[in-house]
Amino acid sequence: MKNAIETHDLTKVYNNNFTAVNSLNLEIPDKSIFGMLGPNGAGKTTTIKMLTCLIQPTSGRATVGGYDVQKNPDEVRNLLGMVPQQVSLYKDLTVMENSQMCADYYGVPQDERDSRIEDLMELVDIKYAKDKRVGQLSGGQKQKASLVASLVHRPEILFLDEPTIGLDPTTKRTLWDLIRELNDNGHTIILCSHDMHEVDMLCDNVGIINTGNLVAYDTPQGLKDALLESNKKEMTDALSKISSESEVSTSTKENIENLNLRKMSILLKNQDDNVIDSIKKSNNIKSIEIAKNGRINLRIDSFDDMAVQNVLNDIIASGGIIKSIYTEEPSLEDVFIKSTSEVNENDRA
Ligand SMILES: Nc1ncnc2c1ncn2[C@@H]1O[C@H](COP(=O)(O)OP(=O)(O)OP(=O)(O)O)[C@@H](O)[C@H]1O
Ligand SMILES: [Mg+2]
Repeated sequence: MKNAIETHDLTKVYNNNFTAVNSLNLEIPDKSIFGMLGPNGAGKTTTIKMLTCLIQPTSGRATVGGYDVQKNPDEVRNLLGMVPQQVSLYKDLTVMENSQMCADYYGVPQDERDSRIEDLMELVDIKYAKDKRVGQLSGGQKQKASLVASLVHRPEILFLDEPTIGLDPTTKRTLWDLIRELNDNGHTIILCSHDMHEVDMLCDNVGIINTGNLVAYDTPQGLKDALLESNKKEMTDALSKISSESEVSTSTKENIENLNLRKMSILLKNQDDNVIDSIKKSNNIKSIEIAKNGRINLRIDSFDDMAVQNVLNDIIASGGIIKSIYTEEPSLEDVFIKSTSEVNENDRA
């Protein structure tokens, strides 16, 4: 598959000699949704600015839609749309005028221009403010106006730098639907966000950037699976280390074994003693607690793929009817925290 974006040792050193992006190598497949994660100051916006030809790389190379950002900036600009982190519309122009200016810049046909703009305004619910000056809008309204202006020329590659910050929950969902719809129609989306749920739900691939470097890249599920694997390895290493030491307190051993456990919580329709007894007897359960709200909170083996299945089988076999079930899985947030925890303080501004 062709890549919509490729970077080769892409580097940005700002004038104050600070390296914000450090030899970044990244491939974003065509027609995919890519999530860019990273702590504040990691270099996400700087990367996006280089890819959208707003600033020049110091060294290295990047292509967008096959065009080199330094050699063919006009071709690159024609392909892309950008919703910047800081809204960059003209404050003294109205929402409509700003969108018209963008449409004209990109050569949207005149007979389609206003109807396209109005459709987009309706979609993100900002039509009611179309004749208001941008300077007089609320934060969320500005964000919506910025979306309309960036989408009017139907860009092949769309960069969204924290697009849902400050949007109300309804508009957020509308934007998520819009991102999916654009992608279904073949558009590539690059999404920078601190909203892990948003990234997990929308993105085909996720890259985590830390102090200007790519520290993880996979599908959201791949990242979570890798975290589980690395936790498993850490635990096995710790266990083999303590078993070789003669003087290890029971509490240390228990703490390490607890790392091995994950939560499972079940609500039954018929919570009789017979069912509870059979759960207690289940081999896969390390601890059990019946909470005040009636939930049965269990601890099971994190790394045993069959543990959930076996517990459920035991409950069903004893006549238990399950109303709801919840198991704790590693989240993208866990992956984020782990992959960005090892920061060299000298690399930060
Ligand atoms: N014009 C500039 N001159 C000097 N340093 C800058 C400039 N712009 C950004 N930086 C520095 O580069 C680093 C990366 O900034 P950038 O805006 O790319 O981070 P980010 O990953 O987008 O963070 P956030 O999540 O807060 O938006 C920061 O340490 C910042 O202080
Ligand atoms: Mg940023």
